[in-house]
Amino acid sequence: MTSQNRIKTLTQFIIERQSQYPQAKGALTRLLNDIATAAKIVNREINAAGLVDILGYEGSDNVQGEAQKKLDVYANEQFIQALKVGGECCAIASEENEKIISFQNEISEMGKYVVAIDPLDGSSNIEANVSIGTVFSIYRRKSDIGGGKLDDLLQPGVNMVAAGYIIYGSSTMLVYTTGKGVNGFTLDPSVGIFCLSHPDMKYPETSNIYSINEGNYIFFPEGVKQYIKYCQESDPKTLRPYTSRYIGSMVADFHRNLIKGGIFIYPGTTQQPNGKLRLLYECSPVAFLAEQAGGKASDGFNRIMEIEPRTLHQRAPLIIGPKAMVERVEAYMREHSPEAAPKV
Ligand code: AHG
Ligand code: MN
Ligand code: MN
Repeated sequence: MTSQNRIKTLTQFIIERQSQYPQAKGALTRLLNDIATAAKIVNREINAAGLVDILGYEGSDNVQGEAQKKLDVYANEQFIQALKVGGECCAIASEENEKIISFQNEISEMGKYVVAIDPLDGSSNIEANVSIGTVFSIYRRKSDIGGGKLDDLLQPGVNMVAAGYIIYGSSTMLVYTTGKGVNGFTLDPSVGIFCLSHPDMKYPETSNIYSINEGNYIFFPEGVKQYIKYCQESDPKTLRPYTSRYIGSMVADFHRNLIKGGIFIYPGTTQQPNGKLRLLYECSPVAFLAEQAGGKASDGFNRIMEIEPRTLHQRAPLIIGPKAMVERVEAYMREHSPEAAPKV
């Protein structure tokens, strides 16, 4: 067998998976392909960012005299367009749009799925050439006909059909789950194809990384402060002190921790009791991936996947990573910060 034969592309992989379900009609396969296509276009633009000077803010002009777009606006448009044309999705909730985008054309309103997306995560890192990402989750619509409705998107994570992210880093990867494990694909930029590079991703057995913005320390609940203290104690048997790593792009922090073994925490603070990250299109999709990789995701008290969203842009504290690490934080929260339990 030549090495050529061993390459499995994302398209081959999802079609193969689909064939395990004789009743499947390929809609989810096409939807995932639509997302992958938009991701490649966004990836090209991100890679060109330094060259063509499109880092300006929305409204300013580039050298060609065309209106410049911030990359997160550009990414948003690409994903919306791909999903609209693809016809499998009847509505989108995006970080960039206050309301849902309901597709009201003949093809798309027949779509069985809705998508929640953060088109560009970590966007404040772009100008420093630091990894950024896209996070998405896919739900089956609840309504029967017409364009998608708000209620189609306000579903708890347990209803998710698929979730994933794209990381635009030293290489570009697409990582996703449909509830049968997590698989990662690396983009071969010379041919524009995502190739299976990380089959069946699982958190490693040993983990010693913690990721949290410690600059906010004084605003953290006591349980989180105590956990940070635990991370910093010396105990070689438990690999402590842990290593601190924080990029400031959730996707990149999550991805590194999944591969190397670590916990990511964005807690509630005295200023923002529900933290910063958005439940629907940031916390829930990574929670699905973490669970599928043998890990856990919690708001300190509740399983992220079971939180019922009431509004589109609702926030939730996020504690995510290997099971034992997350459970330790939950124990600290119960003991030291019971008052911080979110009112779900
Ligand atoms: P976005 O760029 O989509 O607004 O998300 C940024 C988020 C997330 O990626 C990251 O984990 C977090 O903001 C970092 O926040 P702090 O700067 O408060 O640490
Ligand atoms: Mn984000
Ligand atoms: Mn964003």
